[in-house]
Amino acid sequence: MSRLVVENLTKTFSLGFIAKRHVNAVKSVSFTVKEKEIVSLVGESGSGKTTTAKMLLRLIQPTSGKIMFEGKDIWKDLKTQEDFKTFRRKVHAVFQDPFASYNPFYPVERPLWQAINLLEKKPSNKKEALEIIKDSLFKVGIDPKDILGKYPHQVSGGQKQRIMIARCWILRPLMIVADEPTSMIDASSRGGIIQLFEKLRDEQGTSIIFITHDLGLAYYVSDNIFVMKDGEIVDRGHPDKVVLEPQHEYSKLLVESIPKLYRKLEGL
Ligand SMILES: Nc1ncnc2c1ncn2[C@@H]1O[C@H](COP(=O)(O)OP(=O)(O)O)[C@@H](O)[C@H]1O
Ligand SMILES: [Mg+2]
Repeated sequence: MSRLVVENLTKTFSLGFIAKRHVNAVKSVSFTVKEKEIVSLVGESGSGKTTTAKMLLRLIQPTSGKIMFEGKDIWKDLKTQEDFKTFRRKVHAVFQDPFASYNPFYPVERPLWQAINLLEKKPSNKKEALEIIKDSLFKVGIDPKDILGKYPHQVSGGQKQRIMIARCWILRPLMIVADEPTSMIDASSRGGIIQLFEKLRDEQGTSIIFITHDLGLAYYVSDNIFVMKDGEIVDRGHPDKVVLEPQHEYSKLLVESIPKLYRKLEGL
C-alpha cells in the first residue's frame, strides 16, 4: 500500500498587491510513495522541488490538491496539537544547508536532545537519553566523543548533516523528505550521506523522498524518479526507464549531462 499519495498538488504564489503577479511554482503534481521506497524528485533550480517538499512537510499550504499520508489528508484531517506532534515524529525533514539547522551558541548535539523530547516514550533519565544519542551517532558513522560538547563551527558540514540524520535513528520516522541534502557538503562526503539514507530504508523501512538536481545521483539511489520542470512532472518511472528511454526533451537533456553514467550504461 502507498504510504504517501499526492494528488494534483498545486501551489501558486501571489506577488504584489496592486499589479497582481502569480508564480505557478507547482502545477498539478501527482505521485505515490510506498513503504521502504526511495523516490527522487529531480529538476533544475526553480522547478518547484522545494515548494513541493515544504507542502509535504506541512510548512506551506497548497493552493489546491491533496496530500494523503497513511490515509489521512495532512491539510484537512490533522486538527489537534497532538496530531501535529505525531505528524512531526512520523515525517522528518533533512535540509540542504546543514549550517542553518544549528544555533551557533549551542553544542551540536542539541538537535538530538530535541529529538528525544519529541519521543512518545521518553527515556527515564538523562543517562539513558545520552545512551540513545550515542547509539544514534554510531549509526551515522560518528564516534560520539569526536563531537559531543563541540560547537557548530568546530565540526564539518558532512558531520553536521550526519547529526541531522542521526535524529532519524532516534525518532524513527516513517518518511524522510531530504531536500538536496548533499549539495552543500564536499563531494567526498556525498556518497557516505546517500548510504546513510539507504541504511535507514533497509533497517527501518523508511520511505525517502530524495530531492536533487543530479540525475546521476537519483539514478543510483532511487526506486522511482520524478523529473520536474517548471512546476510539473514531465517524466516518471523506474530509473532505468527514465535514464535509458527519457520521454521528455528535458530529461533527455539531463541524461546527456551525465556523461560518466552514460559510459557505464553503454556496457549494460
Ligand atoms: N515564497 C515564495 N514566493 C514567491 N515565489 C516563490 C516562493 N518560493 C518559491 N517561489 C518560486 O517558485 C518557483 C519554484 O521554486 P522552488 O520550489 O524553490 O524550486 P527548486 O527547489 O526546484 O529550486 C520559483 O520560480 C521560485 O522563485
Ligand atoms: Mg530547492
